Amino acid sequence: MRMKILLTGGSGLFGQAFIDLVEKTSYEIYATYNRSPLDFENAFQIDITDAIKVKQLIEKIKPDVIIHAAAFTNVDRCEIEKEKAYEINAKATENIAKVAKEINAKLIYISTDYVFDGKKGMYKEEDETNPVNYYGVTKLEGEKAVTKNCSDFIIARTSVIYGANKKNFATWVIEELKKDNQIKIITDQWVSPTLNRDLAEQIYKLIEKDERGIFHTAGGERVSRYDFVIKLAEVFGFDKKLVSPVISENMDWIAKRPRDSSLDVSKISNIKAPYKLREALYLLKERIK
Ligand SMILES: NC(=O)c1ccc[n+]([C@@H]2O[C@H](COP(=O)([O-])OP(=O)(O)OC[C@H]3O[C@@H](n4cnc5c(N)ncnc54)[C@H](OP(=O)(O)O)[C@@H]3O)[C@@H](O)[C@H]2O)c1
Repeated sequence: MRMKILLTGGSGLFGQAFIDLVEKTSYEIYATYNRSPLDFENAFQIDITDAIKVKQLIEKIKPDVIIHAAAFTNVDRCEIEKEKAYEINAKATENIAKVAKEINAKLIYISTDYVFDGKKGMYKEEDETNPVNYYGVTKLEGEKAVTKNCSDFIIARTSVIYGANKKNFATWVIEELKKDNQIKIITDQWVSPTLNRDLAEQIYKLIEKDERGIFHTAGGERVSRYDFVIKLAEVFGFDKKLVSPVISENMDWIAKRPRDSSLDVSKISNIKAPYKLREALYLLKERIK
C-alpha cells in the first residue's frame, strides 16, 4: 500500500515545493487550498476554519501523514485581525490535531522561528518560547494543541521561506534589482532564510525516517536581512550598490519582529543537511530565469 499524505496549504510557498517533490515519489499526495486554486488532480478547496468539513475530508482520505502548513502568515495583518489569526492558526490546528489522533495519522505541523523572542538567536529545539507578536502567539498555540492532542507528531519550525513559485521577499528583491531600483534593507534583524525546496526535502526525510518531536527545519546559515540580499545580488549578478542598509526603527511595521530568530539546525542536519545559503540561492536562480 502506498503511503498517503494530506497537505494543508498546498497553494502556499512551502506547499507547492512539497507537492513538486513528492509527486516524483511513491507517496500518494493530496493537498488543500483555499483562495488560490491548485492545478493538481488531488487538490481540495477548503477553509480550514470549517471544522466539520476538515474532519470529513480527513476521514474520507484517511492519510497516514497530515502535514499542516496552512496558516495566516501575514505578520502585520495578524496584529490587526486577531480573531481571524487565532481561528486559522490556533483553533483550526487544534481541530486537525484531534482528527489526526482519531485516525492514527502522524501530524507534521509547520511552525515558525517567531515563537521565540529573538533576544538570543541560534535557537535550539528545547529553548524557551516567548513570542513578541500575535502571529507568534497563535502559532505557539498551534504547537501546544499539537503536543496536547497527539503522540505521533513533528513540530517543524522554519524561518523566512523563499522560492520561485510565489511572491515572497526574495522574488521582490529580484524584481526591484532587475529594474535597477534602489532598495532599503535592514541590517539589525537576523534569520535563517529557507529555500522552499530545502524545507520540502527536510520534511520528506523526516517522514521517511518516521521521526517524532520538535525539529528546526531551516536554511543552513544565520544572516541579517541585509547580508541575505547582498548574497542574493552577488549570485544573480545585480549591482550591490542598489541595496542601502537601514535599521529596523525606520520600518513602519505594525507587528514587532524578533531581533535574532535564527535557528540552530544541528538536529535536522543529522537527517538531511540544509543547503548553505549560496547553494540555495543558485538553486533559486535556476528556477527563476
Ligand atoms: N513564509 C515564511 O516566511 C514562514 C516563516 C516561518 C514559518 N512559516 C510557516 O510555514 C507554513 C507555510 O508557510 P508558507 O509561506 O508556505 O505560506 P503562504 O505561502 O503564506 O501560504 C499560506 C497557505 O495557507 C493557506 N490558507 C490560509 N488561510 C487559510 C484558510 N482559512 N483555509 C485554508 N487554507 C488557508 C493558503 O491558501 P490560499 O492561498 O489558497 O488561500 C496557502 O496555501 C505556515 O504554517 C507558516 O506559518 C512561514
